[in-house]
Amino acid sequence: MTVQNGEITRLGTRGVTVGYGDTVVLDGLDVSIPPGVITTVIGPNGCGKSTLLRTLSRLLKPRRGTVVLDGGDIAKLKTKDVAKKLGLLPQAPVAPEGLTVADLVARGRHPHQSWIRQWSSDDAEVVQKALAMTGVGDLATRSVDSLSGGQRQRVWISMTLAQGTDLLLLDEPTTYLDLAHAIDVIDLIDDLHETGRTVVMVLHDLNLAVRYSDNLIVMKAGSIVAQGHPRDVVTDELLHEAFGLRARVIEDPVSDRPLIVPIGRTHVTFRTDLKG
Ligand SMILES: Nc1ncnc2c1ncn2[C@@H]1O[C@H](COP(=O)(O)OP(=O)(O)OP(=O)(O)O)[C@@H](O)[C@H]1O
Ligand SMILES: [Mg+2]
Repeated sequence: MTVQNGEITRLGTRGVTVGYGDTVVLDGLDVSIPPGVITTVIGPNGCGKSTLLRTLSRLLKPRRGTVVLDGGDIAKLKTKDVAKKLGLLPQAPVAPEGLTVADLVARGRHPHQSWIRQWSSDDAEVVQKALAMTGVGDLATRSVDSLSGGQRQRVWISMTLAQGTDLLLLDEPTTYLDLAHAIDVIDLIDDLHETGRTVVMVLHDLNLAVRYSDNLIVMKAGSIVAQGHPRDVVTDELLHEAFGLRARVIEDPVSDRPLIVPIGRTHVTFRTDLKG
């Protein structure tokens, strides 16, 4: 853990420039992930959210700058040591053909094994628990490619959980999930955070992001345009600036967080002041 400007950081970037080929996506970016809270990264398609998560998890190597994990340069750590501290659910993971659900989730235990410490009943128990947590225990013997999009997404989340890290980076964990399953998964992530884990996730559903995170990172074109508690950062103006979205931010009837109501061009039938 490092302390910068009085803030404690589990994970962060210091002047990181990263991209693909000749294209720079993040240019000299500084970001700090506070420990023990849920941080959600929001921003329009292509603004660099997945690039940020991949960089934070060392899948992408910065051209300049450093990624700091628990006080050290992540580039200097062994791959296995990074995998014991940090689990990443990528945006569109692909499983090897024919692999079963149980085998995929068991792969989450690989960082914990070595030639002297092989597969144990503890590993099997962790895998069972991880499958049960996302409600996919009954799919264990199915092949991953035979599942529906939402079932597959929950299986991948199980694999990330089986890794047993206290830092979780989840790129759009609710993609393909119906609203009830999306809420279940986010409630599960919330429970994990209650037990002390640090979570960084990307969500497109702004209201879920606002409801469940204590720290929002709002990105646009590779830069951070706002960061902080949703109550402090989410305004009509910010949504317009970041997404070009016309919306009203109102009081949520069921939580103490703001609620974003998009305006759009149609369906605004009884509020003449919002038309146009
Ligand atoms: N493997 C790649 N090779 C080349 N360019 C890439 C690659 N991955 C992403 N990019 C480009 O980098 C930019 C940022 O992409 P990134 O995937 O980080 O966006 P994002 O904010 O996660 O978007 P989305 O909401 O659509 O997932 C985009 O312009 C994208 O086209
Ligand atoms: Mg993405």
